[in-house]
Amino acid sequence: MCGIIGVTSTEPVAPKLADGVRRLEYRGYDSVGLATLDGGAIGIRKGVGKVDEVDAQLDFAAAAGNTGIAHCRWGTHGGITHNNAHPHLSPNGKVAIVHNGIIENYLALKQDLQANGHAFASETDTEVIAHLIELELEHGGTLKDAVHRASKQLVGSYALGVLSADEPGTLVATRNESPLVIGFGDREHLIASDVAAILTHTDTVVYLDNHEVAVLTAESCAIYDDGGFAIDKQREKIDWDMEAAEKGGFEHFMLKEIHEQPGKLADTISPRLRDHEVVFEAETGVTAEVLRGIDRVIFLACGTSWHAAMVGEFLFEELAKTPAEVEYASEFRYRNAPIPPGTLVVAMSQSGETADTNAALEEAVRRGTRTLAVCNVRGSTMTRIAHHTVYTHAGPEIGVASTKAFTTQIAALYLLNIAMAQAKGVLNQQQIDSMIQGLRQAPLQVEQILDQNDTIQKIAKHFTSRSNAIYLGRGVHFPIALEGALKLKEISYIHAEGYPAAEMKHGPIALIDKQMPVVVIAPTDKLTYQKTLGNIEEVKARDGVVIAIATEGDQTIAQLADHTIYIPESLYSIGPLLSVIPLQLLSYHVAELRGCDVDKPRNLSKVVTVE
Ligand code: G6P
Repeated sequence: MCGIIGVTSTEPVAPKLADGVRRLEYRGYDSVGLATLDGGAIGIRKGVGKVDEVDAQLDFAAAAGNTGIAHCRWGTHGGITHNNAHPHLSPNGKVAIVHNGIIENYLALKQDLQANGHAFASETDTEVIAHLIELELEHGGTLKDAVHRASKQLVGSYALGVLSADEPGTLVATRNESPLVIGFGDREHLIASDVAAILTHTDTVVYLDNHEVAVLTAESCAIYDDGGFAIDKQREKIDWDMEAAEKGGFEHFMLKEIHEQPGKLADTISPRLRDHEVVFEAETGVTAEVLRGIDRVIFLACGTSWHAAMVGEFLFEELAKTPAEVEYASEFRYRNAPIPPGTLVVAMSQSGETADTNAALEEAVRRGTRTLAVCNVRGSTMTRIAHHTVYTHAGPEIGVASTKAFTTQIAALYLLNIAMAQAKGVLNQQQIDSMIQGLRQAPLQVEQILDQNDTIQKIAKHFTSRSNAIYLGRGVHFPIALEGALKLKEISYIHAEGYPAAEMKHGPIALIDKQMPVVVIAPTDKLTYQKTLGNIEEVKARDGVVIAIATEGDQTIAQLADHTIYIPESLYSIGPLLSVIPLQLLSYHVAELRGCDVDKPRNLSKVVTVE
C-alpha cells in the first residue's frame, strides 16, 4: 500500500521519478506526487487520481532538479484529497517526505506538536514525521541525524524518503516493517518500495533492514545501523529482466501474466526436478532429515496466497500424509493457537511484504518453531524472517489480481510434498514418479487451456449484466472455487461466493434463479464427480446458468451445463493448476467487457503493508 521512489543523480531525476511511480502504481492509485530539489528550493507537484491523469495536468517530467522523491498513495489516514497526497512538507517548507506505512502513535505526536503551535496542512499521519524532522534539525546535526532521531519517536511501520533544502543532492531513507530497496545506478542512487520500479536503471540492490538509515548522493551511498555506525551491506544482483515488468503487447498486465503461466510454472518446477526425485536441499536448507521430522504443517497467508495454502493443506494430507491447517495470518497472530513440537509453519506470499503474514510469521519464529516461506520476491522481508525459503519463479507480478504467483505457489507446494513424501517413505517410487511426470506435463496443459481464450471470452458475455455469481468445487477444487470467486469480485465488482459444492444446499441454493451464473468445477474423478453432477442438476432444476469446468471429452457434463470449458486430464492432485486457468480468463474478460480497470481495481492494493 503506497509506493515510494527516490533518485539522486548527476542529471534531472523527474522523468525517472515519473516512470518509477507509474511502475509502483499497483500499490496505490488514490493520488500521486513528487518533490524535487533544485538548488536550495523544493518544488512539489501532486494531485488526486491515477499517475497518467495527474501527470497530464502537471507534467511531472518537467520538474527541475537532480534529487527527488515520489509517491503513489493508497489512503489510510485522511480522505483522497490534494492536501493528503504526498510528498508532505515540514512547516518551514525545507523538508519534504514520502512515506509508506502507518504511524500508530501519530495522533499523540500530532497533539503534542499542535500544543506547541504547529499547524498541519493535511490529515495524514505522514505529515507528523516532516514536523518532527524539522524540529530535530533545529536541535543540530545533519538530515541523517534528524531522520534517525525523529524515527525513534515513531511507533508503527514506515519506509521514508526525505529531502532537505539545506542539503542539496542528498536523499535520506529509512524503514521499519515497510520494504525499501536501494539501487546502485550509473552515477546515481535510487530508493524504491520494490525493485520493479528501478529495474530499468540498475540490477544491483541492497535491501535496507529495519531502523537502518541510508544517506545517498549521486556518487555515494552510506548506510548506518540503528546505533549510528556505518555498515557494509551485501549488494545483490536482480535476475528479473526489464521486459518482465512491461506489458509485452498485451492489453493488461493481468492478461500477460495469465499467459506467462506455462513458462513461469516450468521455471519454478524444472530446476528442482530430477528423474525420480525433487532436489531442494542446497537451495533451501530443507534436508530429508528436516522433512522427516515434520509432524504437522500450519499455513499462514492472506488473499490469493491463502487459497494456495488451502490447496497446500489438501496436498500435505493427501500426498505427504501429514496433518495441515490453514490460518488467516491476521487471525493467527492474535490467537494463542498451540504450535506443537514438530510443526512446520509455512508462510505464503507473492510479495513477501504483507504486514499480517509477516507479523504472524514473526510470532511463529518467536515461539521457536521451524518456519518456511514460499515467496516470489527475492530478498523480501518474509524471506529474511523465515528459516527457509522456497522461491516461486513467477517474475514480477504487476496486475493487482494475482494469477501466475498463485499457480507457481501451488507448484512449489507440490514439489515440497513430493520431497516430503519421499523423505518420509509414505508413497512408493511409482507414485512419486507419476507425480513428477504429472507436474512436468502441467505447463503444456496450461498452454492448451489458454488456447481456449476465445471460447472463454464468449462465455464471459453472459456475466456482464449479472450482479452475483456462485462458484462450486469439491476437494482439491474447493479452494479454486474460492479463488475463482475472488478473481471475479476483485476486478469486475460482481458479487461472487465460492462454496464446497455440497454446501450449496445449506443456503446458497436459495439465491439460484435464472439470473444466477453458477460456475461448477467438475473434472472427472473417482471420488466426487458423480456427486457434483447431482449439484449441477440441482442448479438447473432452479433455472440457474451453469458454466462447467470439465475434463476433456466429458460429454455427460456438456449436456447438462449451459457452457462447458474443458481442461486436460491430469492427476487429481495436480487439477488445481489447471482448473484455475479458465476462471482467471473468465474474470479477466468479464471485467474487460464491463469496462473495469483490470490492473488497478478500485480500493485495492497489490501489496498490503498495513494491518
Ligand atoms: C492483496 C493482493 C492480493 C494478494 C494478497 C496477499 O490483497 O491484492 O492479490 O493475494 O494481498 O498478498 P501476498 O503478497 O502476501 O501474496
